[in-house]
Amino acid sequence: MSDPCSVLVLISGRGSNLRSLIDRSRDPGSAYRVAAVLSDRADAGGLAIAAQAGIETEVLESRPGTDRDAYGRALAATITRRAPDLIALAGFMRILSAGFVAAHAGRILNIHPSLLPKYPGLHTHRRALAAGDAEHGATVHFVTAALDAGPAVIQARLAVLAGEAEERLAARVLALEHRIYPLAVRWYGEGRLACRDGRAWLDDQPLAEPLRLECLEAA
Ligand code: GAR
Repeated sequence: MSDPCSVLVLISGRGSNLRSLIDRSRDPGSAYRVAAVLSDRADAGGLAIAAQAGIETEVLESRPGTDRDAYGRALAATITRRAPDLIALAGFMRILSAGFVAAHAGRILNIHPSLLPKYPGLHTHRRALAAGDAEHGATVHFVTAALDAGPAVIQARLAVLAGEAEERLAARVLALEHRIYPLAVRWYGEGRLACRDGRAWLDDQPLAEPLRLECLEAA
């Protein structure tokens, strides 16, 4: 059997998506392994999750005045050294430089807490509630230079409850994130998922729209 796909996970915070990626990577026959975890913050809770799992960690903090391009160059040096097959952003709250993204085109995935293209950026749950949306959810997408706008791979959605508080909605969406991110990373590791011609492809078929978790489960 060939080596599993090596994944470098980038985090900034508590690391619950990292934990779900690690957990699923330990399934028998997993097509990927979390090779290392990099954080832009020394106080990220996810660093302890990685350490407990015996996974190498690295902190690459940005010094005051470091611009996006300089951070991108520092990050690029780390990536070159570690040579992962895939870079998985899991709550990594920095915007990557266009140069960095171009150098790793088609090899960076991100999880975002909204049904993209709705609500790129921050405070997605608050914005969905303020808009009175009936549905909300999460998206895994390939990363391109445009913020949260790369080709989407899979979404999971839920019905917003009447009078639902932001924290509760966030927790329910997070539980869905933990299901769809390992799935997309697994597909990538299996060589089934790719990004070409500005689209996501699964099993050599371009995705006209993201897959939906609920449809996969019903199939
Ligand atoms: C997750 O909800 C993730 O989707 C979001 O940050 C949270 C990280 O939680 N990412 C973004 O908003 C990126 N634009 P975690 O550290 O527990 O995985």
